[in-house]
Amino acid sequence: MKEFNFYLRTIFLSALLFFFIFFLHFLRAGEATLRTLNQSAGGTAFLLIALSLLITPFLRFFKLGIDGRYVKYMGIVGFFFALFHAIYSLVRISDFSDILSWMSENPYAGSTGVLALLLLFFLFLISNKFSKNLFGEGNWKLLLRRGAEISFLLTLFHFTFLRYTEWPLIMFPSFLLLVIALGVIIFRSVHYLKEN
Ligand code: HEM
Repeated sequence: MKEFNFYLRTIFLSALLFFFIFFLHFLRAGEATLRTLNQSAGGTAFLLIALSLLITPFLRFFKLGIDGRYVKYMGIVGFFFALFHAIYSLVRISDFSDILSWMSENPYAGSTGVLALLLLFFLFLISNKFSKNLFGEGNWKLLLRRGAEISFLLTLFHFTFLRYTEWPLIMFPSFLLLVIALGVIIFRSVHYLKEN
């Protein structure tokens, strides 16, 4: 399949995820605002990374006919959702506060968010043939896999630090993300134990 079609299908899937999360935010907040759009963008980025981490174990366990190359496209599209979310969040924070003061009031949420974004950017930069040849295929794949796992965990900490006081039900969308994250961690751990 052509690269363009991979992007098209991944963007279509992302749009479905985005509208699903946006709908949950709409139910919770009772209104559709730029803030709920931004929260949904962050949630979609997280779900795309989570799905990309599930593809390989799913292929091995269930022998499904999913093309393993989707991992790359989900990572790239996820990075752009995260980028939109981070830029909009920084603009919004600077409307009501100084960015550095917000970072010092939310040191864990702020630093994990920034680190997750930087790591996703690095993975985006190296997801090409040039880097594959530079690092060697085995190292390159391992780097991408570990990078995706770490950015997934950083994002999990990021929104947990921001939201945990309001869980379980009031901030329903992010609580759902937490439940999904636990599922991904359990599934990948079982996969890892079976493989080793
Ligand atoms: C510079 C980096 C980042 C900053 C400054 C940032 C900032 C924020 C802020 C201010 C919120 C609260 C939004 C609100 O309640 O209106 C938030 C929530 C969130 N962020 Fe980030 N973020 C960053 C990076 C990321 C990345 C890289 C991801 C995903 C890969 C992400 C995913 C999320 C999620 C899932 C939420 C929870 C949304 C909800 O309430 O359901 N963020 N972030």
